[in-house]
Amino acid sequence: MANGIRFFELNTGARMPSVGLGTWQSDPGLVGKAVATAVKVGYRHIDCAQCYGNEKEVGLVLKKLFEDGIVKREELFVTSKLWCTDLAPEDVPDALNRTLQDLQLDYVDLYLIHWPVRRRKGAVGFKPEDMLPTDIPSTWRALEALYDSGKARAIGVSNFSTKKLGDLLEVARVPPAVNQVECHPCWNQSKLREFCKAKGVHLSGYSPLGSPGTTWLKSDVLKNPVLNAVAEKLGKTPAQVALRWGLQMGHSVLPKSTHEERIKANFDLFDWSIPDDLIAQFSEIQQARLVRGTSFVHETFGQYRTVEDFWDGEI
Ligand code: A2P
Repeated sequence: MANGIRFFELNTGARMPSVGLGTWQSDPGLVGKAVATAVKVGYRHIDCAQCYGNEKEVGLVLKKLFEDGIVKREELFVTSKLWCTDLAPEDVPDALNRTLQDLQLDYVDLYLIHWPVRRRKGAVGFKPEDMLPTDIPSTWRALEALYDSGKARAIGVSNFSTKKLGDLLEVARVPPAVNQVECHPCWNQSKLREFCKAKGVHLSGYSPLGSPGTTWLKSDVLKNPVLNAVAEKLGKTPAQVALRWGLQMGHSVLPKSTHEERIKANFDLFDWSIPDDLIAQFSEIQQARLVRGTSFVHETFGQYRTVEDFWDGEI
């Protein structure tokens, strides 16, 4: 199955497998099994983050997969992310060290600033009074040092608007390789996509199915009529069409599942495609951001007063 896999080349020259297993909201006790299943099915890309609280379990499984000879470290692409409480430059190396220890790895393939948000060191939860102003250039210099050390083979950002990415590109010695953002047919990131393309930054799509299991998001991406009509015409599921659409738009997709059948179906994307006339129909879909970042916005605390402010108008 791994034969069918496709890659995107990053600005570092590294090849990122086009489909990665998402692990956000994968419960303890299930995430390890999901990673093992995915790797056996052919996935070679696992998307992790310190704040998901499950990197230890992922690490245990990766160790076993290496020991059992099911996959080699160099065949896998593992991403992790720096949480908001560790954005002070002096905290960045320790944060990656903790992730590496938990994942039982010597390096990650990609390390991202998870959000353009800083919280007090050690803060738990989302109390507004824990929010601090960011200094992204100084955090970025700390990530550049990790890149130089080889502990992060590529560095990038997540949840950065076009403006924030542009500001970072102005000051970066090592340009970000990736901006990982929400992306699916109902939030297609057209503006950011063009900008990333022009600047050689790879756009990676999280919530590529619209995170249907997340009750607070009120997502109905998989119920979208255009998606369902295309799926019916092609004899595929709406989830497969959403993922294949992403690949054809040129971004990697990071579907999360802890169910074997879905993990398999979400990887069955490489021997078919959506014809151009059906791809054109996706432009009719009304666009709406699901993940709005409201926890990072406050009338008094932190640096963002409104959701518009947070996304620099891209909502
Ligand atoms: P589960 O983990 O129970 O399979 P996203 O990747 O957009 O965040 O979406 C993840 C959500 O979508 C999870 O709730 C996951 O549930 C569900 N999901 C994953 N794959 C499929 C699929 N092929 N069809 C329907 N729902 C899916």
